[in-house]
Amino acid sequence: MLSYPPSLSLAHLPTPLHEAPNVADLLGPGQRLWVKRDDETGCTTSGNKLRKLEFYAAEAMAQGADVLLTAGSALSNHCRTTAIVARQLGMEVALLLEGPERPELDGNFLLMALVGASVRTVPEDSTYSAMDELQDMAEKLRAEGRKPYIVPPAGTAELGVVAYAKAVEELLGQCEESGLRPDALTVTVGSCSTYAGMVLGAAVWSGSPEPPPVIGFSISGETSRATAKTRRLIDETAAYLGLVPCVAEGNIRILDQYRGEGYGKADPSVYAFIHDVAQRTGLILDPVYTGKALAGTLAEMRSGCLQDAREVVFVHTGGVFGLYQKRDGFDLAWQAI
Ligand SMILES: Cc1ncc(COP(=O)(O)O)c(C=O)c1O
Repeated sequence: MLSYPPSLSLAHLPTPLHEAPNVADLLGPGQRLWVKRDDETGCTTSGNKLRKLEFYAAEAMAQGADVLLTAGSALSNHCRTTAIVARQLGMEVALLLEGPERPELDGNFLLMALVGASVRTVPEDSTYSAMDELQDMAEKLRAEGRKPYIVPPAGTAELGVVAYAKAVEELLGQCEESGLRPDALTVTVGSCSTYAGMVLGAAVWSGSPEPPPVIGFSISGETSRATAKTRRLIDETAAYLGLVPCVAEGNIRILDQYRGEGYGKADPSVYAFIHDVAQRTGLILDPVYTGKALAGTLAEMRSGCLQDAREVVFVHTGGVFGLYQKRDGFDLAWQAI
């Protein structure tokens, strides 16, 4: 059905799929929530970005690269994962990061510093082209005799989309094995490639003319922009793989009403939700990505576009280290005994 480009084996696959415990009172009658644990692709390499890097790193190795370059926000799980993968493969790593020149070495930053990533920073909210900056960094490295490979920012290009089409193949295989027929899949939408891959994968792998709906929860952009970007990514990836167009317009369904004030900004209800979910289920969410997406999933299951869905699978894309950078948002204390 779909033959994948070469990839490395970096993630611990298949990631588990299990029912979320103790959430019945957060759901509508007769509904069940399942969680696909892509937060468990690895330990320090946890999350969705590792699946994408399996493809990009394979291409880098095939090209004889000795330095991985990539870009991300101040809360970038992608940069942390790329930095660690580069070291696992014996390469150097150079990052373009948005944020302060000398950030506190905590969360993702701590791990990037620990593996010795070289970093160029650009001020947050400044106008710049990440690709131009990365090309400039690559040029300088080439002048020093190095062989840089640029992983697209956020891992977002055809190979990143392919990675999540493949993840859906894995997920639907697990569902079939356990007799689960999901009525919908849900996931966080940031730079859109995880979501685009899931929509493409559901169309290709569900074996049905009506694939299970994949609902994306935007944590930054508006629905219209995220939808247009997803459409473009799906079309480019389908062309790259030589597929006939297989994703209808109506299959791209992104909601933006759970993103709050936008990227990296979460109101107290998101922190309270993360706290509640952690205590009920042991699932660890984060306030930038998965906290907003799971809150949206449950709200839509109770009284929204998922209220008729009985079995819903939430793809947990990781992000635990971002939690440390956002610790001030929590109202926590030891429960003294
Ligand atoms: C934990 C986590 N979840 C979800 C996403 C969103 O993935 P994508 O950028 O492919 O939309 C990201 C991206 O940075 C992430 O770090």
